[in-house]
Amino acid sequence: MSKKILILPGDGIGPEIIAEAVKVLNLANEKFNLGLETVEGELGGAAIDKHGVPLADSTLELAREVDAVLLGAVGGPKWDTIEKSIRPERGLLKIRSELGLFANLRPAILYPQLADASSLKPEVVSGLDILIVRELTGGIYFGAPRDQIVENGERKAFDTLPYSESEIRRIARVGFDMAMVRNKKLCSVDKANVLASSQLWREVVEEVAKDYPEVELSHMYVDNAAMQLVRAPKQFDVMVTDNMFGDILSDEASMLTGSIGMLPSASLDANNKGMYEPCHGSAPDIAGKGLANPLATILSVSMMLRYTFNQAAAADAIEQAVSLVLDQGLRTGDIMSEGMRQVGTAEMGDAVVAALQQL
Ligand code: IPM
Ligand code: MG
Repeated sequence: MSKKILILPGDGIGPEIIAEAVKVLNLANEKFNLGLETVEGELGGAAIDKHGVPLADSTLELAREVDAVLLGAVGGPKWDTIEKSIRPERGLLKIRSELGLFANLRPAILYPQLADASSLKPEVVSGLDILIVRELTGGIYFGAPRDQIVENGERKAFDTLPYSESEIRRIARVGFDMAMVRNKKLCSVDKANVLASSQLWREVVEEVAKDYPEVELSHMYVDNAAMQLVRAPKQFDVMVTDNMFGDILSDEASMLTGSIGMLPSASLDANNKGMYEPCHGSAPDIAGKGLANPLATILSVSMMLRYTFNQAAAADAIEQAVSLVLDQGLRTGDIMSEGMRQVGTAEMGDAVVAALQQL
């Protein structure tokens, strides 16, 4: 039975990094006999240009039919002035929400070869391996009402941050389940000293904890968590948090590892159907120049094989190939350090393919 993957290159550096990830995917498919097929579509600015909206109904249909989605990145200056309701990012939020991809896994792992690329001291980050579990289809990103109005002669804008107990419970479970297969430590991040939604968050996480007696649970306010991440990041194993806090903390955690160009992500529904994308954006400043780091997208392919297709051996092999290429001293600009050899997007992708071929 063949399995289908929808490829959405998106905008900016999206098509360049996706091209490299697809090379790696195709080779893994062959080598491990995975029986995967791909179809391609548009999301974000590319979709606005072709269909007039950032996510066409036909693309959403396709996304519902396939087993997994591989996404590059969306957005760019070309669409910055477009009407708000059809901004490229709305397409991304819509596909996450329509597919019910509530569990966003963002691992921040420091490859030992990149210890120099981190802005923190090597002893603070060496061996770092954190997993951020971000709620992805609720909270302030989707809450209503949200609007900009005119009141008393001035503009006023507001957003809403709602969480229901079922939304909190299911993401908390993902956090605990992940902790169970790792080091059994879960830190729930909230702002319960101020926000009502965070107070409920904390209550529900405490309730779910009763089902996981082996997991050591802690709670941390988000401001402290942001500080602890740069002070002593290795105290964390799994962190679970809401949509907006997870957005911010995952960017912060990524830099501990040297570059956001190294961070993959998985966004899963209740049945492990998933969308896989690098954590970084479309980087319009370097788009089209062949400079972007394709490793986060390549590692996203590895996560896809692991979580949606249950192909751990193939997933491990891709990760090993990435590690080998770093051993060889190849670096894109974002992770470049002294004595290494700087390469472009395609050369990095080809090197991973070659390493995977030899494994
Ligand atoms: C991310 C991105 C998105 C988000 C943007 C592009 C809407 O920053 O995936 O982290 O905020 O979720
Ligand atoms: Mg973000």
